[in-house]
Amino acid sequence: MAKVLVATEKPFAKEAVDGIRKVVEGAGFELALLEKYTDKAELIKAVADVEGLIVRSDKVTADVVEAAKNLKVVVRAGAGFDNLDLAACTAKNVVAMNTPGQNSNAVAELVFAFMLHLTRNGFSGTAGTELKGKKLGLHAFGHIGKIVARIANGFGMEVYAFSPSLARNPELGKEHGVTAVKVPEELYDKCDIVSLHMPANADTKQSINYGLMNRLPEHGIIINTARKEVMNEADLVRIMNEKPRFKYATDIAAGNHAELVEKFGTRVLASTKKMGAQTSEANVNAGIAAATQIVNYINKGDRTFQVNK
Ligand code: 3PG
Repeated sequence: MAKVLVATEKPFAKEAVDGIRKVVEGAGFELALLEKYTDKAELIKAVADVEGLIVRSDKVTADVVEAAKNLKVVVRAGAGFDNLDLAACTAKNVVAMNTPGQNSNAVAELVFAFMLHLTRNGFSGTAGTELKGKKLGLHAFGHIGKIVARIANGFGMEVYAFSPSLARNPELGKEHGVTAVKVPEELYDKCDIVSLHMPANADTKQSINYGLMNRLPEHGIIINTARKEVMNEADLVRIMNEKPRFKYATDIAAGNHAELVEKFGTRVLASTKKMGAQTSEANVNAGIAAATQIVNYINKGDRTFQVNK
């Protein structure tokens, strides 16, 4: 009987685990759970006899893949798969997948929680500003960016977006109520608020730098629900020093978060845990999609959503 392990340092909601169990056991497989583990050794031990592995942001490094002697498929229940060592998976003939789009709504809603918190001065009772009429820039335009655009249009914001595909085909933006720009610089020149939605990879790491941020106005805001690695953190300190009304909110605290808070107080906001996708609905969607993909791969060889091709 094939064994599937759900290894989540940050556990799914109970409804999601129940749904995963139904799919996995319904296919005649065994389900094992490793939740809230604190040591990588626990993960290494738990993967020893599994054929399928479901993770969230948990790091599936080469030693984890090496220890998982029977592993056939690993699914990152979520969008970003920068936590999977794809080369190690490929070398061991392990199929790696993600579940694109399944947790996007949760992340998009959190963007607005951050935006409102910052523009209303942390709900302190002092006069803030409204979103209506403000210009919002979406840096990358995948599943999350499109939902953010829809909600932003509801607030009466003017929405701009940059992504390589939009730059090639600006007409695509129209159906989502956004104006496509050709280069990222144009987004930062035009907008009051920029929301980041790109993956972390060699092209995007450290890409949100002084040159870009300095194009935003004095009262500029950056919302980062993408990855902390895309920010140039030293440049963020510099810009916040130079623009005393500049604000930053994120659900993945910067490496220098303590320094940012000490220097800039409530102009910086970070949740204690990464929580963009942390809703029951998102957990159910991504968790069940992951379980279904594992069953379909093991039973039928279905490689839809494979990312290590
Ligand atoms: C994603 O890439 O899907 C999100 O960042 C969610 O990450 P999480 O599953 O660790 O909450």
